[in-house]
Amino acid sequence: MPGVEEMKEGKKYYADRPQQTEGFFLKGSNSLDWGMKNRLARIFNPRSGRTVMLAIDHGYFQGPTTGLERIDINILPIVPYADTLMLTRGILRSIVPPATQQAIVLRVSGGTSILKELSNEEIAVDIEDAIRLNVCAMAVQVFIGGEYEKQSIINMTRMVDMGNRYGIPTLAVTAVGKDMARDARYFRLAVRICAELGAQYIKTYYIEDGFETVTASCPVPIVMAGGKKIPELDALTMAYRAVQQGASGVDMGRNIFQSEAPVAMLQAVRAVVHDNETPEKALELYKTLKNKK
Ligand code: R5P
Repeated sequence: MPGVEEMKEGKKYYADRPQQTEGFFLKGSNSLDWGMKNRLARIFNPRSGRTVMLAIDHGYFQGPTTGLERIDINILPIVPYADTLMLTRGILRSIVPPATQQAIVLRVSGGTSILKELSNEEIAVDIEDAIRLNVCAMAVQVFIGGEYEKQSIINMTRMVDMGNRYGIPTLAVTAVGKDMARDARYFRLAVRICAELGAQYIKTYYIEDGFETVTASCPVPIVMAGGKKIPELDALTMAYRAVQQGASGVDMGRNIFQSEAPVAMLQAVRAVVHDNETPEKALELYKTLKNKK
C-alpha cells in the first residue's frame, strides 16, 4: 500500500490539456455503443477503414461448394490473410480453431436449400449462441423484391433488435433473384431499406454503372460481394472500383478460394483494399506470390 506522503506526490493531472474525444472512424457508426464499435473495429481495419472478409458460408444452402469440400485442408491455411471470416456455426465449431484471431461474422439466417425457394429463410441461430461464440457480427440474407421479401426483412430487424441489446452488429446481405435487374436503382433501394431498418453494415454487389450512387445514398458501410468466379484481373478490378467508389471493403468467397492460388489472391485483394493498389499492380503481386509457391 502506498503511504500518505507518496499519494500526495507525483500526480500529473495535465489540467491544461482537454481530454480528447475521438470520433469513430466508420461511416454512420459514431452513435453506436462501445461494444458494437469495438466489434466493428475488429472487422474493419481502423488504419484503412476497410475490411477484407473471406466468405465461406455457402454450404448453408448449397452444400459442399467447389473449393469448400474440405475446409480444414483448403480454407484454414488462407484464413490468416483475411481480416474477417464469414461462416456458419457448424463449420466454426467443427473445424475452425478457437485460437483464430480473425473477427468472426456468423451466418444467422437459413432454413432453405438450392432445391427450393431461397427467399423463404428464417432466423436459424439464437442470439445466445452468437454471444457464446464471441462473434463480431451476424449476417442475415435480405431478399428485396423476392417472394418472401417481408419475412426476410423482419428476420433482419429481429437480429438488429437482439444485436443492439448485446452490442453485436448485424450485416444485411442483399440477395438478388435471378430474374431481377441488377442495376443502381435496385441496389439503392435494397441497401437503403436495410440501413433504414437498422443494419450496421451491408453486403451488396458491384455494378459498373452508378455504384457510387449506391454507396453515397447508404448511410452505413457497404462491403462488396464477390459473386461467381471470374478471372483474377477482373476480380481485382471489381474490388478496386468498389472501394474507390465508396465501399468499405469486400466480402469475397469463390474469387478467393476457387482461385488457382488462394493465398496469393487474398494478398492481392488486400493490396487493392487496404493500400489502394491498382488492379494491374495487384495482379503482378498475385503472379509473384503464386510463382514463389
Ligand atoms: C450468399 O449470398 C452468401 O452470402 C454466400 O454464401 C457467400 O457469402 C457468397 O460469396 P461469393 O459470392 O463471393 O462466393
